Parts: sequence; structure tokens; C-alpha cells
Amino acid sequence: MTATTAASAAYIVAGLLFILSLAGLSRHETAKAGNAYGIAGMVIALAATVGLATRDTSATGLVLLVVAVAIGAAIGLWRARKVEMTGMPELIALLHSFVGLAAVLVGWNGYLSVEGAAGQDGGPVLDGAEAGIHSGEVVVGVFIGAVTFTGSIVAFLKLSARIKSNPLMLPGRNWLNLGALALFVAFTVVFVVEPNLVVLSVVTVLALALGWHLVASIGGGDMPVVVSMLNSYSGWAAAASGFLLGNDLLIITGALVGSSGAYLSYIMCRAMNRSFLSVIAGGFGNEGSVGSADVDHGEHTEISAADTAELLRDAKSVVITPGYGMAVAQAQGPVADLTRKLTERGVEVRFGIHPVAGRLPGHMNVLLAEAKVPYDVVLEMDEINDDLAATSVVLVIGANDTVNPAATDDPGSPIAGMPVLRVWEAERVVVFKRSMNTGYAGVQNPLFFRDNTRMLFGDARERVEDILRAL
Ligand code: TAP
Repeated sequence: MTATTAASAAYIVAGLLFILSLAGLSRHETAKAGNAYGIAGMVIALAATVGLATRDTSATGLVLLVVAVAIGAAIGLWRARKVEMTGMPELIALLHSFVGLAAVLVGWNGYLSVEGAAGQDGGPVLDGAEAGIHSGEVVVGVFIGAVTFTGSIVAFLKLSARIKSNPLMLPGRNWLNLGALALFVAFTVVFVVEPNLVVLSVVTVLALALGWHLVASIGGGDMPVVVSMLNSYSGWAAAASGFLLGNDLLIITGALVGSSGAYLSYIMCRAMNRSFLSVIAGGFGNEGSVGSADVDHGEHTEISAADTAELLRDAKSVVITPGYGMAVAQAQGPVADLTRKLTERGVEVRFGIHPVAGRLPGHMNVLLAEAKVPYDVVLEMDEINDDLAATSVVLVIGANDTVNPAATDDPGSPIAGMPVLRVWEAERVVVFKRSMNTGYAGVQNPLFFRDNTRMLFGDARERVEDILRAL
């Protein structure tokens, strides 16, 4: 068997393992196995690629390759072990930016070693359709890569709160985006007809600016869609590099990431009642939304942990709606203990999970699974919403935007139209948070001022532990 045949066989096995990985990751029960398939696939893919490289790379090149893989793996391992669950979204955004940058470098390298080297001694000669296809691959790869690169960096800065998450509202911003796309199409034609350095440089700068503007103009509440959308872009960027490098596995893997990311974005858009196209176009449709931060909502009423325990003792049914604050406080363990204790006392306890609660798709589900909360009491928003009116007590643990009635009641709110958990319909609502601060979208929450709402201030973990002691 030649090295190429062996590598192709390994690539097919790796591709199948990636498909099994995606299938596994779609369910709680099989997620760990999905992860294991993904790791095995990547190890096989890397080994086959390095093995292939030994055939036509110099000894120095091989040493550089192994050193680069070792350094990359060490940094990856170190970051993955250190990162908090709450820091995952920004880490993922940063990783997407690397994929984008790699695609830009592969594209530029493709140009410099083929079109740029044409006519030079030893330079490869492509002609006719082959030359046009190569130039097309270069310019498309560089464009998608550069959009992904700057878009992911802005997402990283927003998600890690290094810059404000408010949308950038440049005048005529949708026309700016459309204009940039039209220019890209025109430059692509020019580049395919006559490849040259100036056009490629202009396309690179244009794409870098477009990526930055696309994500900068998306508001805080829509960031979940942006994260999955950039995930998708990074997949297409990798696939474009695969075409250029003639690497089938990169094409397959890129297409898998690209299409699963696009599907996830679509699911998120549906869950948040946003149009997929408008989010892709960079927050299209946000025009005119005004925050209600300055509106006077009245007074809020506080409650103690002991009184909350009293409420829970008398309750028939309890629904817990966790949010980002539960992740920050690492309160899932005590929350699971509280669930067990109340269930033993004959109280029906269930969870209501909003599709974008926390900072990652499935964030709350992962935390609750980690704390061994049974899957059958963890319900999606649509499954629990109609039952909330008949619920004795709702415990809102570190959630804010996902339980904000302004989404349904205030058409001027930046989160208007986003479906939320209608917790206010319950007999009594207890909100666990540390202050009256707003949530991720920066919008005040009228829930906190309702007659049937009580505020339990402090770190969510400590407050749940206080309640456990009082019970
Ligand atoms: P948020 O609206 O982000 O609110 C979290 C609340 O937790 C804050 O109001 C905060 O109030 C409280 N909190 C923080 N630390 C706490 C602690 N130690 N103890 C108690 N409370 C604490 O949460 P959410 O309802 O989960 O909504 C998620 C938001 O993130 C949405 O706007 C969503 O669009 C966005 N987002 C989601 C994702 C994904 S994919 N899920 C990705 C990016 C963005 P205090 O500061 O007063 O304590």
C-alpha cells in the first residue's frame, strides 16, 4: 500500500469518526462518546497528515512541523484545562479566529507559490480552467478566512467584556455590508481573469473590515447566533483551504463544521425569533430599538433565604430556571441537592431551560448533568412555559434576559420578540442575583419589580446553601 492510499484510508476513517462525533454530541447521554470519537478522528487525521508530509518535506520542514504541532498541542491542553466553563464562549471565538487566520495564510501562500511564482524558475505552471479555479479558490478562501478572523476577534472582545456588547449603529450599515459583498464579487472576477497582488490585498482588507463590522453591529442578545455563525464560517474557511491544499479531509471536516454550525445558527434564530438572513447580514432589523433602562419600574421587594425555605416547604410545585449566574456561582451542586431534598418531601421540582441561557448552547444542561440532576426533570422552554401559571414557586437562579417580560411586552426593547420563560405567571417568583444590575443584553428587567416577585440578593451558591440549611 502506498503512503497516499494509506493516508486516504485514514482520512475516510477520520471523516466517519467526525460524523459519529457530531451524532453523539447531539444527545446528553451520548455526548461523552461523541467527544471520544472526535478526539480519535483528530489523532488519526493528524498522524496521517504528518505521515504524508514525511514523503515530500525536507528534514528541516519535518522538524518545524513536529515542533509546531507540539507547541500548539501544549498551549491547547493548558488553555483547555485552565478555562472556566464561563470562559468557554470567548475561548471558542478565539479558536475560530485562528481558523480564519490560517485560511488567509493558506490562500496567500497559494497565490505566492502559484500565480505569484508564474514564469519564475521552477514555478508551477497552470493554464486554462485549472488556473482560473486555483485563483478562485485563493480569493474565496482569503475572503471567508479574513471575515472569520476579524469577526471572531470582535466576538471574543465582546464575550469577554473587553468591549461593549451594544450594537455598532453606523448609518446605512446594511448597505455597507451589501456594498462590501458586491465589491468582493467584482474583485473575484477581476482576480480570476488576471490574478495580481493588489487585488488580493484589497480583497483581504475589505474582508477584514467586513468581518469586524458584521459582528460589531450585532447586539448583545443576538451574540449566541453570532458564535454559532462564526463556527459555521470557520468550517467553510477550513473547507476552502482544503480545496487549495488538495486535502480531502480538510474539505470534509470543514463542510461538516460549516453545515452543522449553520444548522445550529438556524435553530438558535428560531428559538430567539430572529430571521437567519437578518442576523447573517449583521443585525439587520435592529433599527429603532431603544432600551428601557431609564424607565422607572417602581420598588423591588427583598426576601431572606429562611423565608424562601418557608415558601418552598409549603409549595406543591417548583420550577427552577437557571441562567448565566448559576454558572458564575458554580451553584449547580447545591441546586441539585435542593432538588433532591424537595423531591423527597413530595414537592414536584422541574427545570425550565431557555435555549440561550448561559453563554453556550446547552450550557445549563451540561452543568445540571454534571451535578447529576435527572434528565427527565430538565425541560426545554417550550415544554415548561404553559405549566408556569400553575406553579407555586419559580426560582430564577442567576437568569435575567431569558426571563425578561420586556421581550414580550415592550416592542421598543432591544430583546423584543425573543421568546422568554414566562416565570411571572407563577404564584411566586424568587430571583437569585447579587444586585439590580442588568443581564448580558444590558436591558432592565421589569420582572424584578412585579408584586409576586421577591429578590434574594447574594452569590447564588451561598444563598442556595443557606436555603438547604434552613430546610
Ligand atoms: P444574563 O442575562 O446574562 O444574566 C445573568 C445574571 O446572573 C445577571 O443579571 C447577574 O446579576 C447574575 N449573576 C452573575 N453572577 C452571579 C452570582 N455569582 N450569583 C448570583 N447571580 C449572579 O443570563 P441569562 O438569563 O442566562 O441570559 C443569557 C444571555 O447571554 C442572553 O442575553 C443571551 O442572548 C446571551 N448569550 C447567550 C449565549 C448562549 S449560546 N447561551 C452566548 C452569548 C450570549 P448580578 O450581577 O446582579 O449578580
